[in-house]
Amino acid sequence: MRHVGLCLLAVVALYIPHCFTSTCPLVLKTNAQVERRLLNEGFHRDLETSVFLSSPENLKSCIVLIKDVYPPGSYVDPNQLKFFKPFGGPDFYIPQMINVETPEHFSPRILAYYFVRPQPMDDGRWLINMTVPIHFRYHRARSGTSYPLEVGVRLPHPAILLQCEDVGGDACRALTQLEPCPPTGNDQCEWLSIHTFSTSEAVMGIIPVGNTDLLDTVLMTTTCVTAGATLLILASLRKKKT
Ligand SMILES: *[C@@H]1O[C@H](CO)[C@@H](O)[C@H](O)[C@H]1NC(C)=O
Repeated sequence: MRHVGLCLLAVVALYIPHCFTSTCPLVLKTNAQVERRLLNEGFHRDLETSVFLSSPENLKSCIVLIKDVYPPGSYVDPNQLKFFKPFGGPDFYIPQMINVETPEHFSPRILAYYFVRPQPMDDGRWLINMTVPIHFRYHRARSGTSYPLEVGVRLPHPAILLQCEDVGGDACRALTQLEPCPPTGNDQCEWLSIHTFSTSEAVMGIIPVGNTDLLDTVLMTTTCVTAGATLLILASLRKKKT
């Protein structure tokens, strides 16, 4: 029994360092700097994502997967993305139906996959520069005396994964995870998750929220105006008759 225990221990001791000292340079020595900008104003904006990849490997054959999770206060419109594809928009896959009408409190988070080829930069890094139209959803109105009348919808940075023609042997293959295949998301492909960092905070859309305190005033005004108009019409009708 003791022998078996010792033997197991030896196997574990031999095996564990092996697991952690993987020799997949694509994963170990590649990193992705992700920066974002939210352009324009209001509910309909453009989200620019720049990814700078540093790697000792040649990434020419690689496709980058940008995996985004948008919070319930925002959405991307698959029809709009489809429309932009012939004009340089990215290949994408959005696995769920998107309702572009629902307010924030009736909406789910949205998962979006973008497939993009990196371009070589002068400094040896590889660049992805992608802009997609993004929309913010209406938020439930609330009391302006108790709450601020603006909300921030934070768009977290995406995850970055790589798929290259020569994955770099078994060491790399062991590290892959399954995600949708380019360009349309049909089937599952093996992707390598890349370490990411950023020099900027996640971008945030500031959205105005309706004020329920004003509801009484709005109703009063509407009623008064309607009543006043009715009276005017009645008065003019009477005038005509006489
Ligand atoms: C990405 O493209 C936009 C629009 O063409 C440009 O203004 C921006 O500087 C580019 N970003 C990078 C990092 O090259």
